[in-house]
Amino acid sequence: MPATSVIGAQWGDEGKGKIIDLIADRADVVVRFQGGANAGHTVIVDGQKSVFHLLPSGVLHPGKLNVIGNGVVVDPTVLLEEIDQFESRGLELRNRLLLSGAAHCVMPYHRTLDALKEGEKAGVKIGTTGRGIGPAYADKANRCGVRLWDLVDEERLRVRLAANVADVNRLITALYDAPPLDADALYETARAQGRRLAPMVTDTGRTLRGLLAEGKHLFFEGAQGVLLDLDHGTYPFVTSSNADSLGIAAGTGVPPTAVGHQIGVAKAYCTRVGAGPFPSELHDEVGERLRAGGGEFGATTGRPRRCGWFDVPAARYAAQLCGFSGLAITKLDVLSGMEEIGLVVGYDVDGLGRVDEYPVDTPLVERARPVIETYPGWSEDIRDVRSYDDLPSTCRSFVDEICRRVGVPWELLSVGPARESTIIRSVA
Ligand code: IMP
Repeated sequence: MPATSVIGAQWGDEGKGKIIDLIADRADVVVRFQGGANAGHTVIVDGQKSVFHLLPSGVLHPGKLNVIGNGVVVDPTVLLEEIDQFESRGLELRNRLLLSGAAHCVMPYHRTLDALKEGEKAGVKIGTTGRGIGPAYADKANRCGVRLWDLVDEERLRVRLAANVADVNRLITALYDAPPLDADALYETARAQGRRLAPMVTDTGRTLRGLLAEGKHLFFEGAQGVLLDLDHGTYPFVTSSNADSLGIAAGTGVPPTAVGHQIGVAKAYCTRVGAGPFPSELHDEVGERLRAGGGEFGATTGRPRRCGWFDVPAARYAAQLCGFSGLAITKLDVLSGMEEIGLVVGYDVDGLGRVDEYPVDTPLVERARPVIETYPGWSEDIRDVRSYDDLPSTCRSFVDEICRRVGVPWELLSVGPARESTIIRSVA
């Protein structure tokens, strides 16, 4: 069976959690391949809300194996808190959670560096989640990171930490006038965390390739979204990993051909949290209405999300980049009651004129003013609708228009926050 992936088709927060949870139900193994505790997937099951930052969503499904791949940056403090939280709810986890030894750790000094960099008066403010993600990936690329294999080896950990903390202290005291960090205290905490995590740390790439060969259904769960991708998003206003399907092979150690079915998740409108260009952003009461109706506040930081209309060229760019086989369109119910609904179909880019394709280069995206077409809305509450044919005709037309313009058919439509408020056409 080909593996499946679910990827955010916008700027993150597309409502992936629910879609991921539904697909996790049909998979044998759920794998995270990038990002870290900057993610926040909210899932509502039996009226109970769960927010995950690091754990794959398969943890909610008894009997599923969950894997954190080498492309993830793991904050051991957050991971252990989540494990404890789950186990305290009576859910068994330790025997079905594997961690790649090659995954890098987010150490406390990464958070310190993230905060200091964002707090600089000069320089670009990204509006990060403050979870130390950028500095952890920077150490990975700079070949001085602490991997989980180092965390569980006390001698390696001691040597690595001593060198890193000495470097960090030189930097933060000289550049930011911040107090130095205590390497011994960091080592003691990290060593204790390593001892707890050690039984779960392994070569998950080998495990996953073996499971693929056995015909198991692997499911790769994306965090953030294509337009926050380090290489293909609105750089520098991006996260520090490949938050699209291109990150799967590198972030897990499976061949790129493994994933046959890619689902792009797009909200029926757009949101963005943090700084950076957002051509379809609405600065008026319509944007306010979307924020309030959609509960658009960050799951990780609680920050209000910027809101705007669905951006067709941006979603088409995401679809073409990732090769989406289908779309999951979420939060359609949030649009109920709006007289008119906008769809961004192109842009007027200062200096370039009218363009129909997403302009990619960040200054051009910044200069892009949206060309908006409006569609009639619907007044009905659609949360209890369970088939496409029973949706109001204007809602069906809106969905069809999105799919036609993006060039990808829908597979799932989410019409409410609950797991059952979903219309499913086909899911592998
Ligand atoms: P970082 O990943 O914390 O470094 O933040 C970089 C950018 O990505 C900021 O604009 C964040 O708001 C954004 N970001 C990171 N994680 C998420 C997410 O899960 N959803 C939405 N935006 C995110």
